[in-house]
Amino acid sequence: MRVAVALLAILLAPIPAVAELLDFSGAEWARIVRHGPWPLPFRADPSNRVSGDADAIALGRTLFFDTRLARDGRLSCATCHDPALGWSEQRARSEGRTTLTRNTPSLLDVRLRRWFGWDGAHDNLWATSLRPILDPREFASDPTAIADLLRGDGKLSACYDRAFGRDIAGVDAETLAIDAAKALAAFQETIDSARTPFDDFRDALDRGDRIAAARLPLAAQRGVRLFVGKGNCAFCHLGPAFTNGEFHSIGIPFFTAEGADGGRHAGIKTLQSSKLTLLGPWNDDPDLAPGTATRHVDPQHRNFGEFRVPGLRDVARTAPYMHDGSLASLRDVVKHYSDLDPDRLHNDGEAILVPLKLSESEIDDLVAFLESLSPTVRTSDASSGPRCN
Ligand code: HEC
Ligand code: HEC
Repeated sequence: MRVAVALLAILLAPIPAVAELLDFSGAEWARIVRHGPWPLPFRADPSNRVSGDADAIALGRTLFFDTRLARDGRLSCATCHDPALGWSEQRARSEGRTTLTRNTPSLLDVRLRRWFGWDGAHDNLWATSLRPILDPREFASDPTAIADLLRGDGKLSACYDRAFGRDIAGVDAETLAIDAAKALAAFQETIDSARTPFDDFRDALDRGDRIAAARLPLAAQRGVRLFVGKGNCAFCHLGPAFTNGEFHSIGIPFFTAEGADGGRHAGIKTLQSSKLTLLGPWNDDPDLAPGTATRHVDPQHRNFGEFRVPGLRDVARTAPYMHDGSLASLRDVVKHYSDLDPDRLHNDGEAILVPLKLSESEIDDLVAFLESLSPTVRTSDASSGPRCN
């Protein structure tokens, strides 16, 4: 009986439309294929000697979810970087001990960034991870409190000894705070985004398999075409992670009730005044090679209003959007580019951006493409691995 019902269900199911592949030109194929392959292989961060170390990752994972890192024990990293929300949050602007001026960025694929934060105020993941711990608006903690926490908890101490290969008792508080941040960084390097329908499509194009490529719904295919073509999106959202890693102005207002957000201009100044950069003594890479870019940045007038180009993997899960969380949905983002007000573009250099004047169906298509950058099946994520015990 059950078999008969199942058979009937199959017979009555609507016949799927024959899958179709748009007639992409050779140039379009080439531009699409540049957004892969995915995932990218793991490469240890040379500035962090515990990068990739299993004990350090377990310590970092434990600390990431531990509210004891915060002075008042109310917040953990995961409060704002929630794994269930693509390691970001639904608020437009983060709520620490006070309301922050910016939106919480997703930590997916954070190991691939070159500059960290919306303004690139850091050039490495461990300094970026120490920032919220010390910031009076967030954890408001200090190295002594961090050292007391690590030394006072037997499980954390044992985990530390294994990860760093030394007895925690002999390590000073400042080093311990930076080591905690390095363990947090090692953990966050494991937060990878999974493969998506777009990746299957891209790989199929790459190997010339038209039948497999045709499985991507047509709306998303038309969206890809706009993304690499008329929309010029791939000029900035380039490569496998969909970002060129640099800073641009796209006309999101940067004056807030608290004053102007200096964006990349302020970020460069913070970077230059920090001793936690790749040029400083805490970089574990003896030949300092990755610090070259940091030595050469210099704040220019055009850097006002510039923010880092976000990666777009799993972007459908990380609303709201932009550095200030001012756009609620992907549709709003696409409309922003469609209706762009050129007078709002602070930066004269961004001639690349013109109002796209998209039709409603083109807007739908671009949104369908952006949605195809999210995995359809979610397996367990980085939060479920081993902790210190
Ligand atoms: C109160 C909310 C909040 C908490 C708590 C918080 N963050 Fe963040 N995080 C943010 C915001 C907002 C930014 C963007 C900062 C900026 O651009 O100036 C950010 C940026 C980052 C970045 C840079 C990401 C990128 O793409 O460049 C990393 C890494 C990060 N946080 C890790 C952490 C870690 C580790 C903790 C815990 C020690 C933590 N955060 C706690 C809100 C928070
Ligand atoms: C000139 C470079 C540039 C171009 C071209 C560009 N973007 Fe962006 N994009 C950015 C920057 C910079 C931001 C962040 C701006 C901010 O927060 O102030 C951004 C933000 C976004 C976001 C929000 C992501 C998030 O996590 O908040 C999406 C989605 C997006 N762009 C999609 C597109 C699409 C679709 C196109 C083409 C229609 C496009 N972009 C063209 C630079 C660009």
